[in-house]
Amino acid sequence: MVESKAWNWKIVKEDKANKWKNPSIESYYLVNRWKNQEKKDFLDLGCGLGRHTILFASNDFNVKAFDLSEEAIKQTREWAESLNLNVDYKIGDMLELPYENESVDCILCRNVISHTDTEGMKKIVSELNRVLRKDGECYLTLGSKESWGFKQDWPVVDANTKIRIEDGPENGIPHFYADYDLIKELFKENKIELIKQIEDFYESTGERFSSYHYHLLIKKV
Ligand SMILES: C[S@@+](CC[C@H](N)C(=O)[O-])C[C@H]1O[C@@H](n2cnc3c(N)ncnc32)[C@H](O)[C@@H]1O
Repeated sequence: MVESKAWNWKIVKEDKANKWKNPSIESYYLVNRWKNQEKKDFLDLGCGLGRHTILFASNDFNVKAFDLSEEAIKQTREWAESLNLNVDYKIGDMLELPYENESVDCILCRNVISHTDTEGMKKIVSELNRVLRKDGECYLTLGSKESWGFKQDWPVVDANTKIRIEDGPENGIPHFYADYDLIKELFKENKIELIKQIEDFYESTGERFSSYHYHLLIKKV
């Protein structure tokens, strides 16, 4: 299995970091959905700078903020404490979640889970299912094989995984890329409530880029 590697948040400049401080669009829907389902124990898996930790803690969920990066947990803690929000913080690797079996109702895992290889991905899926309670849900994103990244001439780890080479916080980090059949196989123990592929567009120095991600909502049955 390829070695896990945290994001280097220390080199992310303030203007770029701000992008990671506004909750994702679907997170507002998930707050509403999971409140209606009376879910309470929420895991922000790979919390980054804490945008979803803050959103869910402000909405009365019991939040566990988890990341491999010390800097991410430090910044999340500082932000939550400035708002007097009570959060459980842990630094660790998603390949071995430091939580009891069936101790979590809902998980948000956005732009995180792809940072491993195929073997790691199978382990993470089993960890998600181990910590979720029955009927618990997880919303996650996975890089798609349609993405620009998968077509780059980066070091290959296995048929689905490359090591990203760039001048930025993701340098040297493994990226797993999925397709529909692979997702169906990975989550065969789960009910897939929703699966869609989204193309995001970026422009930089006059050039247009796009990246494709699968968005999934899975349920433990
Ligand atoms: C793109 S950021 C997304 C942060 C957050 N989910 C959000 O949406 O704002 C990815 C985060 O995943 C963390 N990460 C990467 N590999 C990890 C691992 N093996 N275990 C736990 N966290 C990991 C990184 O350190 C980084 O903070």
